[in-house]
Amino acid sequence: MSEAVGLYLEEAKRSSYGHKLRQMQELAIRDPENFWSEVARNLYWFKTWDRVLEWNPPFARWFVGGLINASFNCLDVHVRTANRNKVAIFWEGEPGDRRVLTYMDLWREVCRFSSVLRDLGVRKGDRVAIYMPMVPELPIAMLACARVGAIHSVIFSGFSFEALATRIRDSGAKVVITADGGYRRGKLIQLKKTVDEALAKTSSVQSVIVLRRTGSDVEMREGRDFWWDDLMRGKSLDSQATPLESEHPLYILYTSGTTGRPKGVVHDTGGYLVWLYATMKWVFDIRPDDVYWCTADIGWVTGHSYVVYGPLLHGATSVMYEGAPDYPAPDRWWEMIERYSISILYTTPTAIRMHMRFGEEWARRHDLSSLRLLGTVGEPINPEAWRWYQRVIGGGRCPIVDTWWQTETGGIMISPAPGIELVPLKPGSATLPLPGVHAEVVDENGKPTKPYEKGYLVILGPWPGMLTTLWEDPESYKRIYWSKFGHNNSLNFHFNPPAVYYTGDYAMKDDDGYIWLLGRADEVLKIAGHRIGTTEIESALVMHEAVAEAAVTGKPDPVRGESIVAFVTLKPGFKPSDDLRVELIKWVRRTVGSIASPSELYFVSKLPKTRSGKIMRRLLRAVVSSTPLGDVTTLEDETSIKEAMEAVELLKKAMMNNRTADSS
Ligand code: PRX
Repeated sequence: MSEAVGLYLEEAKRSSYGHKLRQMQELAIRDPENFWSEVARNLYWFKTWDRVLEWNPPFARWFVGGLINASFNCLDVHVRTANRNKVAIFWEGEPGDRRVLTYMDLWREVCRFSSVLRDLGVRKGDRVAIYMPMVPELPIAMLACARVGAIHSVIFSGFSFEALATRIRDSGAKVVITADGGYRRGKLIQLKKTVDEALAKTSSVQSVIVLRRTGSDVEMREGRDFWWDDLMRGKSLDSQATPLESEHPLYILYTSGTTGRPKGVVHDTGGYLVWLYATMKWVFDIRPDDVYWCTADIGWVTGHSYVVYGPLLHGATSVMYEGAPDYPAPDRWWEMIERYSISILYTTPTAIRMHMRFGEEWARRHDLSSLRLLGTVGEPINPEAWRWYQRVIGGGRCPIVDTWWQTETGGIMISPAPGIELVPLKPGSATLPLPGVHAEVVDENGKPTKPYEKGYLVILGPWPGMLTTLWEDPESYKRIYWSKFGHNNSLNFHFNPPAVYYTGDYAMKDDDGYIWLLGRADEVLKIAGHRIGTTEIESALVMHEAVAEAAVTGKPDPVRGESIVAFVTLKPGFKPSDDLRVELIKWVRRTVGSIASPSELYFVSKLPKTRSGKIMRRLLRAVVSSTPLGDVTTLEDETSIKEAMEAVELLKKAMMNNRTADSS
């Protein structure tokens, strides 16, 4: 054992780690390969791996030589046991329709749908884009792709045609799976229409499969578009899962970064499944009689990992819901918890804050005593929301697991782990890294910070759930995630050669080694826990004929964490007006999606820039959040920031006046 690892263990001992947790941490640090192969043995491998890890930083291959299939591990292993008739999914549509799918039901549907894909010419390595509402056919489509070795790329159904087209183009998808529509807060969402608009801007797609969900009228193009039902009719169940190399990509999931182009995060099969198997057990302490509900939309990573793959790997019973949390009334969720006797609830701080606003009487109307564990994810949780969640929803008896992780990490990294041993919780802290996760907080030079000192959160790689690359862009993968801190010798590495993964988050450690997440260190926004890049919204704005330049930033929001604020300069011939403001906001919503919709938009004559022409979003963020500007010496023209301040002040005053007028 190196001296460095020894020091790390010393730190672990000083902190308030429980005995069992510390033991696991030590095992994972001393002999990671052995540790991970023990976990991997819980999965079904067509062929066992030859080597646990091949590590050429920053490229890792986990379980090299092993052959595995995700669909087989989620379904076939269960239908071969007494679990075959166990409920896999209790599903509810927003209008109130319900379906129950056992493991056998799910297995049948996946087998048949994988035959459909095979008949359409989908082969191992082909990309399939999935753009669907939260209906059981969405996990069925994903598992069918996994069964044949096709790489799925699920696109959140709240994204609009421009975002969809970019993702289809980048992945080169051959098939798109969608639905005629879906329901959201009582409204019909037209998905097929959006697919048609996106396909007009892409060329790789040969076939479109359309599920009937709403029965609304859609245009079907002869020879390209097929109804799901028609294709499934008479399809055989005989569709064996293809044994795939452990490092075969299971999926691409696009996520926002600091450029206008979303990043295609690639996850492998073996390492990713091992990570999910472990974290479901450690964090959720998943048991055979649990009814587990992760409220995330499958369009985001939480849905991939903890609605689909994680619970199914464990043969768990899950609940899946199509619509809005407050539809038809604010107690929809609490009613569902009572109906299904849900024991584990995993959701976002935004949802909790929203329910807090509705008031606790909605929860009080229902028997929530089945709950035994609560979880949160996606954004920092304020202690007030944490306490409300524990008291009102958890009845004061359920621990809360505040889970920190990212699309890139594949699964949970920092979190309480009641499945191993529950450490004392501190509202607002994700507590400690899981076994095998070496998280550090470092300063600008990569040196560990002192307790309570803010720094950058880094992970000393590799770990099995990690992204393997960015789709067809290994150079960006290296640059974005693994180059900021190089190989700093003041850190303690478990693996050789050493490599530091940059998370893009600020954090600090306290005296007990607990980690407190302090928000993003880059230009990525978290709106209601969803990740959206400022540049993606800016690109959409400048596509409008009136817009010359745009700068987007985030402003603290009491419920959604952050809201979007845009500053826009206009092209000659266009004048600022309220109508144009409304039109531009609508434009962003229509092209990117409603999650990207600015809540405030200001017209200015110039944007604050450095002398080299870089937009200083940091200053705009300070202006909209009413915080000190900080260093402005690099600003080229100080009047630009004055103008932005005046614009924000003006709107504030107008809103105050409106409020006074309303109340008088
Ligand atoms: O900033 C962190 C925040 O969400 C980011 C990752 O976003 P995404 O890839 O969309 O994945 C979200 C679901 C895993 C992180 O860089 N974040 C996630 N979980 C937490 C969090 N911030 C604070 N506390 C958390 N528990």
